[in-house]
Amino acid sequence: MYSVAVIIPAAGSGKRLGASTPKAFFLLDDEPILSHTIKCFLDFSEVNQILIPLPSEYSGMSSEELQLPSDVRIRYLTGGAERFDSIQKALELVDSADLIAVHDAARPFADQEDIREVFDRAIESDAAILAVPASDTLKVVNDDDLISHTADRTKIWQALTPQVFRKDVLAKAYKKAAKDNFIGTDDASLVERIGHPVNVVSGKRTNIKITYPADVQMAEYLLQRQKKNRMQIRTGIGYDIHRLKEGRKLILGGVEIPFEKGLDGHSDADVVIHAIIDAITGALALGDIGSHFPDDDQAYKNIDSRILLRKVYELISEKGYAIGNVDATIVAERPKLISYISKMRDNLANDLNVDVGSVSVKATTSEKIGFIGREEGMSAMATVLLKKTI
Ligand code: CTP
Ligand code: MG
Repeated sequence: MYSVAVIIPAAGSGKRLGASTPKAFFLLDDEPILSHTIKCFLDFSEVNQILIPLPSEYSGMSSEELQLPSDVRIRYLTGGAERFDSIQKALELVDSADLIAVHDAARPFADQEDIREVFDRAIESDAAILAVPASDTLKVVNDDDLISHTADRTKIWQALTPQVFRKDVLAKAYKKAAKDNFIGTDDASLVERIGHPVNVVSGKRTNIKITYPADVQMAEYLLQRQKKNRMQIRTGIGYDIHRLKEGRKLILGGVEIPFEKGLDGHSDADVVIHAIIDAITGALALGDIGSHFPDDDQAYKNIDSRILLRKVYELISEKGYAIGNVDATIVAERPKLISYISKMRDNLANDLNVDVGSVSVKATTSEKIGFIGREEGMSAMATVLLKKTI
């Protein structure tokens, strides 16, 4: 596996945006643009260093202040007067790395797949950048605001970032540019100047650079969309088991079933509802049934498990989810459960506020094998799918 040092220049003032703070610290959904941008790179194990040139008045910045995890790879430094100077300063701090990726702090929507693609292309070819084909017709205009000619759009791409280069290629390009006093508006232009081919990787148009106030509106829209897409569905799995005991009622899926024994437990021991509750709390990553309804709490002694299920339903809606579907299997040697299944499904669908067509309950025997086969107990398992509603 190769290693990548990422430089995220964030030292600009953002004149064109015209906000009261430097652009990288402008808040998008209560978080600085820079925080959103840094997060685009944290999940890449190839990234071994993230260097962030900042405006001098922000030089004491920490990941904590930026609401980021305290990732040891991140290092903050003071930038320079131009983007070029900021990157040059960061280049001096790069440890060992195969590639250097430069990404504007002002681009908080770099797509993970695009980043991976441009990294891979750069490791193959030494230099690659994300870009998109120009979409508008391009006019070359003279000083009197007259069109001199129309450029051939089919050959024009707009450069995005990340722009990724083998370390020595970028170092050489910066050295040459410094010597010639050449300040480009991106990094590829410096590499082009030393005669090194640079590959273009087609990126997503949502990788916008926040430059003008109108870009903030687009950014807010993209952020909402990103949030929505991040976790549209969740799944969970649940399993429970109870011992059979004489003198107890047998209650499954909220249905009382005539039988010589019943399931033993602190509550009514409705094994299938317990498995479903565990699947739901699991899907929400909120622990298990015991952490919500402790079995040493007198409040839950002999309680109807449907009451617990309805409480769990409240948790689902509080978190902004609804049931997609539930599927459960009861493992019991006897009695035959088939005639009670439909009533169980009705109960569950009612308590979970979902159509009965989205609730499945099945039953199977244990073929007389093991503790269930010997009728010492019953078990149930369940899966649930939750879908985001807000
Ligand atoms: N940048 C930098 N150091 C500078 C100037 C710019 O690190 N001296 C960074 C910016 O913070 C930004 C990126 O380079 O993330 C791209 O530059 P641009 O979008 O032009 O940002 P600003 O220069 O801040 O904006 P403006 O040109 O409108 O002032
Ligand atoms: Mg600028």
